Amino acid sequence: MEKLVVTGGAELNGSISVSGSKNASLPILAATLLTREPCTIRRVPDVSDTNYMLQILRSLGAEVERASGTVTVCAENIHADAPYDLVRKMRASICVMGPLLARLLEARVSLPGGCVIGDRPVDLHLKGLAELGADVSVAGGDIIIKAENGLHGKRVHLFGKHGPTVLGTDNLIMAATLAKGTTIIEEAACEPEVTDLVEFLNRMGAKIHGAGTRTITIEGVGQLHGADHTVIPDRIEAGTFVIAAAMAGKKVTVRRARAEHLESLFTVLRESGYKIDVDGDRITTGRIDNPTGCELITEPYPGFPTDMQAQLTSLFATVPGISVVTEKIFPQRFMHVAELNRMGANIQLEGATAIIKGVKKLSGAPVMASDLRASAALVLAGLCADGETEINRLYHIDRGYEHIDEKLMELGANMRREKA
Ligand code: EPZ
Repeated sequence: MEKLVVTGGAELNGSISVSGSKNASLPILAATLLTREPCTIRRVPDVSDTNYMLQILRSLGAEVERASGTVTVCAENIHADAPYDLVRKMRASICVMGPLLARLLEARVSLPGGCVIGDRPVDLHLKGLAELGADVSVAGGDIIIKAENGLHGKRVHLFGKHGPTVLGTDNLIMAATLAKGTTIIEEAACEPEVTDLVEFLNRMGAKIHGAGTRTITIEGVGQLHGADHTVIPDRIEAGTFVIAAAMAGKKVTVRRARAEHLESLFTVLRESGYKIDVDGDRITTGRIDNPTGCELITEPYPGFPTDMQAQLTSLFATVPGISVVTEKIFPQRFMHVAELNRMGANIQLEGATAIIKGVKKLSGAPVMASDLRASAALVLAGLCADGETEINRLYHIDRGYEHIDEKLMELGANMRREKA
């Protein structure tokens, strides 16, 4: 096990480059199962989640090669059983279900467990696939899904009590690409990662319209062919570095970002008084003297992303005044709060709302990483805390951030990885 020891107080300067999106890579890699022909996916980040996905594709029978950020997959001869020991490690593995069902008319994928950010149901995934004609059953912790009479296009409503489902939308789109007839998904997720998946699928010969809106239409086709695709920049990584710059930076530029994917973050930071300068794919910002607290509610895209809530809670911990953060996507996603309070923050939880009273300074302490984004939030807090912050269970961060410590050290941060 490794830990990260962050010594607070260093001023960040300079620029870093954003990696390819983890959350776009995962469904796009799963989509390579839809064709017997080879596919090339570029700018796939080297993080444990994408590496788990490559292991799952190999275990399904696909040939997989990775050369730094470029992955080639040839799923000529595959079978339908996704291995429990791999699937249980990463909930997003559920997105192999749609392509397996479309290609083989069957799939066996273990039910993803819950995780620290809360219950992770897949009822909407299963409801959508059943609407296309699949028979769904659960046995021994596995989802067993079959479509003996094939899949047939349908109008499907995909909306749960917390809004649309990102991977549920992905699964349904992928299943519908080879269904007979046309599928219309209503209340679809609009995240940029869904749009990137659709771009890849259309390159493979799919006929999909409406990505990025709440209504997506998929005309089924006979088969899909191989394609070459470069994954979009990771907007959550980019946003995490923009927040790091606002907390501890003099002048920091985040390069190779898609600024249009970060509008909701810029709105909150500008409301708080920060100056955000956007020039093409470069975003520049830094600390200011008197930021003010504000209100934040997480919502489905284009609203403020739940995946940046923990990082912004870290920022608000030392912003004078009161800030209020309400988590509407994963109401329990506050594992970082207890750890931030150990560092001297003053955050009260009331249900799915955090009331943050800004304190002058945080103080370094040994803290525990829990989920990917909570861990990133603790690194950011350590950057501007007095003394040393030890972040244990670093594997949580390595799931979704490509060399976050190296990139922050390039900007001048003072930190080191150690054996825990
Ligand atoms: C994706 O997860 C992301 N993961 C998550 O990022 C992100 O937090 C989430 O979308 C929300 O934006 C990937 O893309 C790999 P959902 P997903 O289905 O698709 C409920 C990270 O940090 N729901 O959009 O699994 C669910 O409980 C990760 O990179 C149902 O009720 O999330 C939640 O409250 C964490 N039934 C809400 O919908 C279902 O069948 C949104 O979940 C499915 C979901």
